Amino acid sequence: MIKLKFLSVLAGAAIALPVMAADVTYRADVEPLLKKYCYDCHAAPDAPSMAEFKLDEAKYKKEKVGPRTDTYEHLLQLINGKSTGAFMRRLDDGTNPLAKGKPGNMYKYLGDTDAERAANLKILKDWVGEGGWNLNRMSARGDVPALTKEQMDKVKVKY
Ligand code: HEC
Repeated sequence: MIKLKFLSVLAGAAIALPVMAADVTYRADVEPLLKKYCYDCHAAPDAPSMAEFKLDEAKYKKEKVGPRTDTYEHLLQLINGKSTGAFMRRLDDGTNPLAKGKPGNMYKYLGDTDAERAANLKILKDWVGEGGWNLNRMSARGDVPALTKEQMDKVKVKY
């Protein structure tokens, strides 16, 4: 927060944004954000690991719990692991070309107002990295091509 306030003092100065983007980390920015907006439904002990979730998706959906995202390792499954792109598909605001104008179904949880959701999405996108915010899966599906190694290499997700 202090860091953000300091940078907002610099707002208007062209250097403010790149500095902030480079500085986004899991520990300082992403974990607190997810804790606030997502952990009600995505944290242990209620929420299963992704592997467990996949075993009984219907049951978990009924209970309104999603897979755990409350450790760095669990979260990365949904970004550049086995469920690659899930994080981006669910949180995109619909502006990614592959989203075809439709926001992901978790986007609404990013805040109560458009401005709050946009600000939080920006933090997450900066963290994932320029060119790393890809909605593709490991394998092609429908008209969506498989993720390429070049796309995967752009993912930053600094701890
Ligand atoms: C009110 C409960 C609730 C909240 C709050 C919530 N989620 Fe979810 N989430 C779910 C449920 C239930 C599912 C599984 C059903 C589905 O796939 O839509 C899910 C699925 C997901 C998936 C897809 C997992 C997969 O199967 O590939 C991602 C990614 C995700 N959520 C991220 C988030 C993030 C990030 C936040 C916070 C901004 C969030 N969710 C907030 C309930 C919630």
